[in-house]
Amino acid sequence: MPALESRLWALNTPNTTYVVALDPHDGLRGIHWGRSLTAAQADSLRELPGAVRRSVSDGRDAVLDLAPASAFRYGVNGLQVRFADGTRDLELAFTEVVRTDRELTLVFTDGHYGLEVRTTYRTRADTDVIERSTSLVNRGAEPVEVIRADSATWVIPEREDYRLTQLFGEWGAETRINRTSLPYGETHLGSRRGHTSHQANPWAAIDDGTATESHGEVWSTALAWSGTWRLTAERAPTDRVAISVGFGHDPVSVALAPGETLETPVAAGLYATGGFAASAAAWHDYALRYVLPHPEELRPVIYNSWEATEFDISADNQAALAERAAAMGCELFVMDDGWFGSRVHDRAGLGDWHPNPDRFPDGLGPLIKRVHDLGMRFGLWVEPEMVNPDSELYRSRPDWVYHQPHRRRSEMRNQLVLNLARTDVAEWMHGRLDELLAGDEIDFLKWDMNRPFSEAGWPGAEDPDRLWFDHTRNLYRILDRLRADHPNLRIESCASGGGRVDFGILRRTDQVWTSDNTDAVDRLEIQEGFAQVYPAKVMGAWVTDSPNPFTRREVPLDFRFHAAMAGALAVGGDLLKWTEAESRRGAELVADYKRIRGTVQLGRRSPIRAGEIRGAQYGRGDETVVLAWRRSRRLGYRDPLVKLAGLESDARYRDERTGRIHHGAVLATHGLDLDLQPWDYASTMVELVRMP
Ligand code: DGJ
Repeated sequence: MPALESRLWALNTPNTTYVVALDPHDGLRGIHWGRSLTAAQADSLRELPGAVRRSVSDGRDAVLDLAPASAFRYGVNGLQVRFADGTRDLELAFTEVVRTDRELTLVFTDGHYGLEVRTTYRTRADTDVIERSTSLVNRGAEPVEVIRADSATWVIPEREDYRLTQLFGEWGAETRINRTSLPYGETHLGSRRGHTSHQANPWAAIDDGTATESHGEVWSTALAWSGTWRLTAERAPTDRVAISVGFGHDPVSVALAPGETLETPVAAGLYATGGFAASAAAWHDYALRYVLPHPEELRPVIYNSWEATEFDISADNQAALAERAAAMGCELFVMDDGWFGSRVHDRAGLGDWHPNPDRFPDGLGPLIKRVHDLGMRFGLWVEPEMVNPDSELYRSRPDWVYHQPHRRRSEMRNQLVLNLARTDVAEWMHGRLDELLAGDEIDFLKWDMNRPFSEAGWPGAEDPDRLWFDHTRNLYRILDRLRADHPNLRIESCASGGGRVDFGILRRTDQVWTSDNTDAVDRLEIQEGFAQVYPAKVMGAWVTDSPNPFTRREVPLDFRFHAAMAGALAVGGDLLKWTEAESRRGAELVADYKRIRGTVQLGRRSPIRAGEIRGAQYGRGDETVVLAWRRSRRLGYRDPLVKLAGLESDARYRDERTGRIHHGAVLATHGLDLDLQPWDYASTMVELVRMP
């Protein structure tokens, strides 16, 4: 056994320190996650009562950083297996440490069964986000059933109280924020649907109940995985709290054959001071630097044809829309659902990925050329993981969908889910998409997934539960391969709106479709929640028609644009019906967006809440942008001034539209008069430039 001195490890990020240490029974304790400590300070933690001197057998739950199901572990166990002889308890002995400059791996072994468990921590020089993952290596002679293999268990330092922040939702109402006192016991968030889900986003934060947007400590974690997942926040009766997060869901388990390794996805963790806004900004910064495939690239202004034409697609109506979109300044034209097979409604054609010969007798080439000639890139909608029973694909391959013997095949939106865990299905899917992309004329794919799994079986497979993991792994492989072979291809992740938004998919896509709900007012709430974790650059946001097709709400064009300008702006209305005045104003607003998008997409975001006004401030270099909205006006109430964050007190800032000069100190302490129109649905965009 290594000497006691070497049984404590401290990891440093620019502003934080994370410390783990072994107790006498090789239990790995999380003993510090917070402000930076020197090596000597970190080392002294072992002397604190209860830190590492006693083993977990004294009954304290929620203190282990690696939490194996074993004796006296009555709380949440992130690591659970069953050995071939039925033994469930793990007896892990610490065997090795592998440390490089920025990576620490601690290796534990269950000697009798030959199961090796490796827990890895990765830090970086310019982010406080710590990435963790676990791997299990079966070095024994028998298979091991893995019931739970969480990527990380994060021990939260002791505080007086604990509050949980989660992002919950539904179709059309994703990523809404809920803050709630953390109950004693176990609180589970997760998805059993096969994808990330609209209902819960794989992220959560803990604070002591006093954090605000601008003050306080916030601990948060995000899982980089797009399949099923589970996050458990445990508050033990001892008032210790831990969050354990990983892929998979109960009652699914997988067999780990002798010699096989199971690698979990990454769970990232962040400790931030400065409240929720600082936490969100640190997540954005991490995403831009270490998650997204093209960090510096700005997202183009998209035009998407879905709400304009739905399934009623023709080469002519798409070309007419493309002309209007180009005139408005859009840079990428996306033809949505309805271009392929017999897909003239949602009852047929999914799976038959060749252009509908009635609609495109000469293929897609002429339309693509027209779009390119207009100076725009061309994008296409696909939903590769799905099939309509009324399709050539299903007629020839009915066994390719998830199904179980003697059970019905339940349809949703008239479609079934392809068993992408199968190698032959994955090969077919890759081949079909690769063929579609041949010649590199298609610049962009909107990759949709419009239903969750049901009857998720795989008759005849040795270990059918693997499908829950292998579906996502094969999806990732296909995306990675397509990107490698078509380096100019950009991809949007969509699952009936925001059903697949997470750091796993964002590692291989460029933006996401935030929600099918395009009502600008509803959108503000969805966007606020989205912004707790994900940067504006990936948040697809369309300006659509008024009244909104879903809510029938009538909202002025400026408000709709200003709401969408808080993300990756796109236009999704029926431009053939817009008046000339609307088209002209639309073009002006697109031009406004192009001026500010570098700041919005890559800058630091601070939320704005002042009276009835909601908004966001973005800062990058010398530029500050404010987008603000006031939904309803209250007679007799004056709009408050909006205090700006992060400005230099001694600097002066010029308002690019009015030419007015403001002092940083005054903007910070008194605020900016947004001069909103005195009516409902007022909105504005302000550009301030720091003067030399
Ligand atoms: C769901 C998406 O979220 C919509 O934007 C659209 O692409 C439809 N699917 C098309 O079927």
